[in-house]
Amino acid sequence: MSYSTRVTEAAAQLNYPKGMLNGQVAIITGSGQGIGAETARLFAREGAKVVISDIDAEKAKKVAEEIKDQGGSAIAVPGDMLNDDYINGLVQKAGEFGNGKIHIIINNAGFTWDGVIHKTTDKQWDTIIALHNTAPFKLVRAAAPYFRVKDNEPRSIVNISSTSGLHGNAGQANYALAKAGVTGLTKTIAKEWGPAFGVRANTVAFGFILTRLTAAKEEGAFVTTPDGQKVALGIPGAQKKAREEGSAAFKDIPLGRPGTATEAASAILAVVSPLFSYVSGQTISVTGGRNI
Ligand SMILES: NC(=O)c1ccc[n+]([C@@H]2O[C@H](COP(=O)([O-])OP(=O)(O)OC[C@H]3O[C@@H](n4cnc5c(N)ncnc54)[C@H](O)[C@@H]3O)[C@@H](O)[C@H]2O)c1
Repeated sequence: MSYSTRVTEAAAQLNYPKGMLNGQVAIITGSGQGIGAETARLFAREGAKVVISDIDAEKAKKVAEEIKDQGGSAIAVPGDMLNDDYINGLVQKAGEFGNGKIHIIINNAGFTWDGVIHKTTDKQWDTIIALHNTAPFKLVRAAAPYFRVKDNEPRSIVNISSTSGLHGNAGQANYALAKAGVTGLTKTIAKEWGPAFGVRANTVAFGFILTRLTAAKEEGAFVTTPDGQKVALGIPGAQKKAREEGSAAFKDIPLGRPGTATEAASAILAVVSPLFSYVSGQTISVTGGRNI
């Protein structure tokens, strides 16, 4: 297809009410809440058929129902990204939902399990690497038949990273390594699947986004590992208070505030949209300017 035809088609996709992702099938992992759920809502509003993947079945179903109630198209496929059978089933169900097509994968599922280096256990280490690196790789590998195609339809993969991955963060050796790792996976997908199939792959790295991961630990959110261990989520209240209150609050963020889940999700939408059709292999920082 010629360059001008592609541009014309991309522009045509911008026409509302069809939306920027009209008819595209998107798997969004970790979309039962937080940034992933908001991404699913925004994608659906732009005409995508969204596959809500989350270990929390109740929340996944709720997001899918809400999208359908508002006239969007969604299915919930709950399960654990640490389970290979689940990943293969997720791709199969997404393919059926999309009548043989999958256009977008957002590798977003994740949590933090912090510890300073000398106290981090093997289990803490292995779980975070498995969820943030191995699972996205396995999902992309399982979905390869849907991306290595020549049908002139857009294909885009986004891996979610963090400022911890780009700059390191005390107490997060496991998470920092994993979030740095996805940038290499992203660039490799861009190089392997870009030339022949036009697949774009990008990393979106968040700074401080308001979700349960950045809420006070005392609020009690937790995840359960496959062997039943509860891992508390969030930032210790005292540490959070010291960072966020007083004259030094958010001093490290040029915009002077945390971002919302909607702002984070909007950046993901921008990256998969036709507006970014010539952007691939990049790491987009969505941080309010932090770390510049
Ligand atoms: N909130 C932030 O400030 C921030 C900053 C940088 C990066 N991130 C990244 O953004 C992504 C989304 O985080 P969020 O803040 O929306 O968190 P969140 O806790 O609100 O949402 C994450 C979702 O992932 C799901 N999940 C966790 N483990 C899973 C598993 N094994 N299988 C399937 N689903 C699983 C959870 O159930 C949850 O619904 C994560 O990758 C996170 O590391 C967040």
